[in-house]
Amino acid sequence: MENKLHDYRKSYEKFSLDLDKENKDPMMLFTEWFKEIDENDLADEVNAVNLTTIETDGFPKSRIVLLKSFSKDGFIFYTNYNSDKGQAIAKNNKVNLSFFWPQAERQVIIKGLAEKVDAKESDAYFYSRPKGSQMGAIVSNQSHEIPNREYLEDKLSALEKEVAENNKEIKRPDHWGGYLIKPTEIEFWQGRANRLHDRFLFSKNGENNWSKKRLAP
Ligand SMILES: Cc1cc2nc3c(=O)[nH]c(=O)nc-3n(C[C@H](O)[C@H](O)[C@H](O)COP(=O)(O)O)c2cc1C
Repeated sequence: MENKLHDYRKSYEKFSLDLDKENKDPMMLFTEWFKEIDENDLADEVNAVNLTTIETDGFPKSRIVLLKSFSKDGFIFYTNYNSDKGQAIAKNNKVNLSFFWPQAERQVIIKGLAEKVDAKESDAYFYSRPKGSQMGAIVSNQSHEIPNREYLEDKLSALEKEVAENNKEIKRPDHWGGYLIKPTEIEFWQGRANRLHDRFLFSKNGENNWSKKRLAP
């Protein structure tokens, strides 16, 4: 059975983005958009972002991760370095981050180069997480096959027991930490009426120097 969705359509009319005559730093603009969406409750998880990597089999793969910080240096998320995405990045550190904020009718698409953050930074975030999340990260060999759910829960119970009874210290595994995505291109997309959306693409030319062009929607 074919499920036609031809009548699913929405007109985007909430906001506009006009940078034709304005010079703006893209990280400033990202900060403004992020804050605006966050402060006006225009997203359930404003920091959820689609990360695409080129996998070791040559196919692209996308999955959601949570952005944990951003600054002029780039965008940081945390994960297991042995996961599919970790293995992909080890082979090809060119990645894509794509935010979709439907209630604001906006998307931001970032091309960038991924690098591991230093251990101190990963420690700081790891130990700031609830104990349950820390232990979850330790017992989950992310992206690898496991026999069943019980296997995972047994591993967690065993670790919880060791921590409670033998005072075992919870340590961040070396294979768990952050990636910093250093942007080379950032596109801002604002939905507009009649599919005449506003699109601005910023490309990095050297340290803190960005060129900008408007793209047809
Ligand atoms: C809302 C949401 C947030 C997520 N946040 C993270 C995250 O910050 N880090 C992470 O490793 N996985 C996160 N995941 C799980 C990933 O989408 C993915 O399943 C996992 O990282 C394994 O991906 P991989 O096998 O392609 O490496 C999140 C999933 C969702 C739906």
